[in-house]
Amino acid sequence: MNMNETLTVIKNRRSIRKYKAKQIGDAELQAIVEAALFAPNAMNQQKWHFTVIQDKAMLDRFVSIIKENILNSGIEFLIGLVKNPDYHTFHHAPAVVLITGDEQARFIQIDCGAALQSIALAAESLSIGSCPITSSIFLFASEKGNELKKELGIPDGYNFMCSIALGYKDGEIPATPPRNKGVINYIK
Ligand SMILES: Cc1cc2nc3c(=O)[nH]c(=O)nc-3n(C[C@H](O)[C@H](O)[C@H](O)COP(=O)(O)O)c2cc1C
Repeated sequence: MNMNETLTVIKNRRSIRKYKAKQIGDAELQAIVEAALFAPNAMNQQKWHFTVIQDKAMLDRFVSIIKENILNSGIEFLIGLVKNPDYHTFHHAPAVVLITGDEQARFIQIDCGAALQSIALAAESLSIGSCPITSSIFLFASEKGNELKKELGIPDGYNFMCSIALGYKDGEIPATPPRNKGVINYIK
C-alpha cells in the first residue's frame, strides 16, 4: 500500500533527545497540545489535565528535584543515569507537557497514553521533535509532591501519568530502534 502523509508521520516520529534552545511558537504549541483533546478516551470521560511548562528555570528546578528523588529511590538503573553529569530528565527541551489524570477514572492510563501519542504525532506533523518521559514521575515522589501539584494548578485527586518533551530537533534524527516482528496475528 502507498504511504499517505499520516502513515509517514507515524513511521517517522522518533523519540528526540537533542533540542534547539529556541522556544516553540505559541500557535504551533497550541495546535500540538490541543490535538491531545481529540484522543480516544474511555466513555469520553476526559479526566485528564495538561500542564504546559515553557519556563526554563522551572524545568531545571524540576530536574534537580527529580534527580534528588531518584538518588533516594534505590533503583540502581535510574541512579546510574542520574549520576551522569549530562543527565537532564527532559533532554533540555524548551517545552514539556505534564499529563495528569484522575486516578479514580477507569482506564485513565490508556486515555493519557493516547493523548501523549496524539501530541507526539501532531508535533511530528509540524517537524517538531518530542520524547515521552515517564521518569518525571519522580517529581512528585517526595513529600513536597502535593505542594508542587498545587503550584502547577493540577486538579485535586489527579496524579502524574506521563509527560512529553517538545522542541525543535537539533542534529541528526536517530535511527529507528528495531521493532519486534511476529507480534501481529491475523485471524481470518
Ligand atoms: C511509556 C513511555 C515511557 C518512556 N519514558 C522515557 C523516559 O523517561 N525518557 C526517555 O528518554 N524516553 C522515554 N521513552 C521513549 C522510549 O524510550 C522510546 O519510545 C522507545 O525507545 C522507542 O523509540 P522511538 O520512540 O524513537 O520509536 C518512553 C516511551 C514511552 C512510551
